[in-house]
Amino acid sequence: MTPASTDLPAPLKALVGRADEALARVLPGEELPPADLHKAMRYAVLGGGKRLRPLFVYAAGHALGCDGTILDAPACAVEIIHAYSLVHDDLPAMDDDDLRRGRPTCHIVFGEAMAILAGDALQALAFEILAVSPGDDDDAPRRIAMLRALGAACGAEGMAGGQAFDLSGVGRRLSLEELERMHAYKTGALIRASIRLGALAAGCDDDATLERLDRYGHAVGLAFQVRDDILDIEGESAVIGKTAGKDAAADKPTFPSIIGLDASRARLTTLVEEALEAIAPLGRHGEWLADLARYSALRGH
Ligand code: IPE
Ligand code: IPE
Ligand code: MG
Ligand code: MG
Ligand code: MG
Repeated sequence: MTPASTDLPAPLKALVGRADEALARVLPGEELPPADLHKAMRYAVLGGGKRLRPLFVYAAGHALGCDGTILDAPACAVEIIHAYSLVHDDLPAMDDDDLRRGRPTCHIVFGEAMAILAGDALQALAFEILAVSPGDDDDAPRRIAMLRALGAACGAEGMAGGQAFDLSGVGRRLSLEELERMHAYKTGALIRASIRLGALAAGCDDDATLERLDRYGHAVGLAFQVRDDILDIEGESAVIGKTAGKDAAADKPTFPSIIGLDASRARLTTLVEEALEAIAPLGRHGEWLADLARYSALRGH
């Protein structure tokens, strides 16, 4: 039976559990000093989250014939970067949110200073995990390629740059091009990197395949943030696990605020089509990626 697009198929649900276990293993223990920092890091990462970025890693690896534990390190690395980005995104100086994943945000529980440090330490940990990920010496070029892709995705040309576009767009009416660039940077870059890391960890060095996956990642990454913008309007805080209606209240540039809700939904449909078209040559091996494309665009939280 084909699952509804708002639900994940059983194999992907199982991989959420695998990601949760791997994350719990790689984070520093709460009993170790500095305990407050370690607690804040574990709080930010564990106990919630859809784990979509790890799923992109696993699905890209699977599409290329790899389901091995070699995928766990990049899966953890991208989720840890994502969790750090959420901690900083919620800070008073940024979106000033007090609810995340259905719980008080990291800075509400641990204070602003500790939340900033937890974000810093999580970012560093993600790169360390990739650098020491299992593999023999022959794997060094592959690890460097993964480190480079992750670095590019979270820096000034990626997530951090996108967050800067977001903040400087408050109260301004961005053009559609500016809006798409902002989304591609702040959310799309890390999703694209998740897919690339999965492919690289699976040993893929075929430029045409990497390019095809990148086209898929670009479309899905944009669809994911367009859906996030729609959920901010249509979702309920209890379901989305974060305060609904924040974007309009803060006068944020979003897809619905610029092109309207109907056009945003129509854009989602074409983005899913673009994503599916890009991975069509992978045939049934790309099935999980196809599921994730539909889920990213139609998810209910
Ligand atoms: C929320 O991401 C922040 C954005 C980049 C839009 P997710 O919707 O993936 O959040 P979690 O990880 O499931 O909490
Ligand atoms: C967050 O975008 C993007 C990053 C964390 C990089 P949003 O600010 O829209 O995410 P939510 O809605 O707070 O999850
Ligand atoms: Mg934000
Ligand atoms: Mg936010
Ligand atoms: Mg949002």
